[in-house]
Amino acid sequence: MKYHVEFDIDLKKNPYKGKYIAVEGIDGSGKTTQAEKLAEYFRTKGKTVIQAREPRKTGVIGDIVQKVLNRKLKMSTLSLQYLFATDRVLSQEEVIIPALKRGDVVVSDRCFWSAIVYGILDRTGGQYNYKEADFMLVVYSILSMYHRFIVPDYTFYLKIPLEAAISRIRKKDDILEIYEDKEKLRKVIEGYNWLSTKFDKEIIIINGEGSVEEVTKRIISRLSL
Ligand code: TMP
Repeated sequence: MKYHVEFDIDLKKNPYKGKYIAVEGIDGSGKTTQAEKLAEYFRTKGKTVIQAREPRKTGVIGDIVQKVLNRKLKMSTLSLQYLFATDRVLSQEEVIIPALKRGDVVVSDRCFWSAIVYGILDRTGGQYNYKEADFMLVVYSILSMYHRFIVPDYTFYLKIPLEAAISRIRKKDDILEIYEDKEKLRKVIEGYNWLSTKFDKEIIIINGEGSVEEVTKRIISRLSL
């Protein structure tokens, strides 16, 4: 039997006096550097800034996540996504919400939008058609974990071509992480393109090419705080 299902989702706005800003992008897009620059920018404006990141690099879950990402511990990527989710809940409760309540600026390197893009890849193995119900169910099943979360006041998606990201990743000295792979990142770019079109009121696309300073300027020019 076929059923037709349709519904609206109301994303939860930030009800606190602090500001929540997230930087998103594929691996190698420069988002960690830009999150750092944004934090510096707000500090020069006299704000108290809390820098968050998802996934966290330390802590009960963070330690395991980093081992899996760095290939020191084996785990299916589907189960890894649930660890990201657990750590995200803890980070919201312990770091983000208290900071927003105090009135601080939270600058986060990734947020739950990453879970959708990377989660689509892990749950479908990259085999999907955007128009199929199965694809939408995968998206909404992930979103259902977060639609009661606070959506960032600003999400900046740093868009860069695949080749540019790959060449940046190859310059790293460290071992390549599990998602730092050309075919996976090709799919992740597709996912971000779909996401930023679907949630166009939430996600601001920033050209991530050019010098660090140029990209920072582009981001700051979109802020009205
Ligand atoms: P990072 O490179 O920003 O530290 O993120 C680590 C990797 O984890 C990156 O390849 C993206 C991936 N990731 C997910 O797959 N799902 C998630 O929910 C998050 C936050 C990150």
